[in-house]
Amino acid sequence: MSEPRQILVTSALPYANGSIHLGHMLEYIQTDMWVRFQKLRGNQCIYVCADDAHGSAIMLRAEKEGITPEQLIANVQAEHSGDFADFLVDFDNFHSTHSDENRELSGLIYGRLRDAGHIATRSVTQYFDPEKGMFLADRFIKGTCPKCAAEDQYGDNCEKCGATYAPTELKNPKSAISGATPVLRDSQHFFFKLPDFQAMLQQWTRSGALQDAVANKLAEWLDSGLQEWDISRDAPYFGFEIPGEPGKYFYVWLDAPIGYMASFKNLCARRPELDFDAFWNKDSKAELYHFIGKDIVNFHALFWPAMLEGAGLRKPTAVNVHGYLTVNGAKMSKSRGTFIKARTYLDHLQPEYLRYYYAAKLGRGVDDLDLNLEDFVQKVNSDLVGKVVNIASRCAGFIHKGNAGVMVAGDAAPELTEAFLAAAPSIAEAYEGRDFGRAMREIMALADRANAWIADKAPWSLAKQEGKQDEVQAICAQGINLFRQLVIFLKPVLPLLAADAEAFLNVAPLTWNDHQSRLENHQLNPFKALMSRIEPAKVEAMVAASKEDLLAAEAQAPAGNGELAKDPLSAEIEFDTFAAVDLRVALIVKAEAVPGADKLLQLTLDIGDERRNVFSGIKSAYPDPSKLEGRLTMMVANLKPRKMRFGMSEGMVMAAGPGGEEIYLLSPDSGAKPGQRIK
Ligand code: MSP
Ligand code: ZN
Repeated sequence: MSEPRQILVTSALPYANGSIHLGHMLEYIQTDMWVRFQKLRGNQCIYVCADDAHGSAIMLRAEKEGITPEQLIANVQAEHSGDFADFLVDFDNFHSTHSDENRELSGLIYGRLRDAGHIATRSVTQYFDPEKGMFLADRFIKGTCPKCAAEDQYGDNCEKCGATYAPTELKNPKSAISGATPVLRDSQHFFFKLPDFQAMLQQWTRSGALQDAVANKLAEWLDSGLQEWDISRDAPYFGFEIPGEPGKYFYVWLDAPIGYMASFKNLCARRPELDFDAFWNKDSKAELYHFIGKDIVNFHALFWPAMLEGAGLRKPTAVNVHGYLTVNGAKMSKSRGTFIKARTYLDHLQPEYLRYYYAAKLGRGVDDLDLNLEDFVQKVNSDLVGKVVNIASRCAGFIHKGNAGVMVAGDAAPELTEAFLAAAPSIAEAYEGRDFGRAMREIMALADRANAWIADKAPWSLAKQEGKQDEVQAICAQGINLFRQLVIFLKPVLPLLAADAEAFLNVAPLTWNDHQSRLENHQLNPFKALMSRIEPAKVEAMVAASKEDLLAAEAQAPAGNGELAKDPLSAEIEFDTFAAVDLRVALIVKAEAVPGADKLLQLTLDIGDERRNVFSGIKSAYPDPSKLEGRLTMMVANLKPRKMRFGMSEGMVMAAGPGGEEIYLLSPDSGAKPGQRIK
């Protein structure tokens, strides 16, 4: 046997300002299956990840929610960890880029790059929001397109005509944060001298570390010459201050990939057998793989290897790039209910259904992958329930009834035993090469052969005949042995099914090499259904719930800001979506100012059978809130409760008007009663 390999694997670090959705899950499930395969083979394989916690988006969102960035990232980390665990994504460590290890490693790498002469400084002129007191990234500037005069376009490109431009070319520019007119201001920035690494990158990108399609794409950039990369941002910024440069912060993408190392370092402190340096030294024998989506290739296949090289560290063995998830043939869409959050899926369906479907459709390439919801139901039901689990459920009963659950010795189908053994190296090779689709096809072809053989032998007819009991037992023992091999081959994809099967088979956790042995004279445990069919109604419920997520998000965003919605829903919605909103007549029992909040009122609302606490950003129009007490208004009663700095907000009241003093709370005609539904 060859030495076990030492392998460190990462998935991209999800941003800490949003929920995980099924697009993200394509990456984490794929990486997890590869890692589980390596572990099953007996290799030392470590899988680390973290939340990507820095940047202005996170700072601004925390501000909006009235919490500190630290609180925001702690909340999101708990949510993300739960989503991953419930999808059976088994990280050895899930850390945060806002950590001591990352601060230390970022400082170390930056220091080495600077000392080696790879950092330049120069002045940059940029738009500055005078009201907010901060420099504005392109996406925080809006204005009129200089080419086609479309209004409300972002600072770097026009969605109407597709033009790209510098933010300074926008007409009538406005800060998307405060609405103020930005002014130009100079500031000193730090640059990583990427061109120093041109030759190394030309070579490395063609060394087998990348898929051909990715290397070809990068060649376009490499051939046209690399630019220096701006790695600093001015305060206020949520991130690490650059050592020795007060008021200057590392740009989030500088410390994000270092977060891979930091998560591993954090793990090393708990697992003494792991030697951090042995994995990261320039001459490291360990393998290092990053799994990422196609949108972040330049960060991982240009900037990151150059940073590592410049800091005297090892480079990745490979960067494995995947395409984007589409649902029902189109980009995930909130209004169609196909923008599905991990949690919404888990509320309705088993994680292994999706793991199998992704496995069946994943190849080595960077093509997009479509989750077709009808095909999903059909494929999972037919392959997993109809083929794999079916073998065990057909055979187990006869062994329990006819032989007290003991599998007899002997090989009733040597040609099948041989075929299963012979297929293993090819299945392993497909897993190793991330060609999960090929692995699944080969496994299902074996399952088809096993089922056909059992159908041909028809133990259910033999069992009714005199003197055929030995034959029945031989067939069923063989069936269970074949099932056991399929379970081993599928274990990286279906860890729960494997655990349940191990319990039924009454065996220790199976490893890859166990496929070479068989169970003989072996006592089974009682058989329990290992997997049930997907009911299409569950899928429909998940899509309906995803539409509701959208409504809740749109209704809550302005409430969280303490401001009224300007244009909450401009897109058309289906009647069902509208019908899902529970609008009620509400009596304002109590209305008070909220200490420490300039815009908010705290309302106690009576909706017939219960009272609700609601925070509403209407104070500017109702400076004397007690005047609202006793009056009727309308509220959205089934909005998911939202935690705010001041307490829970359990719904939203409805008002019209542009804001400021012009906010008009809606009221029903007299005679309406609290709690009545509005239709
Ligand atoms: N924070 C950065 C990564 C830093 S890595 C040092 C980031 N975060 S992300 O949350 O936007 O994306 C995390 C991963 O999910 C990325 O690899 C991204 O490509 C992937 N995906 C996000 N949406 C996706 C789909 N719709 N489909 C497939 N993968 C997608 O980028
Ligand atoms: Zn335009």
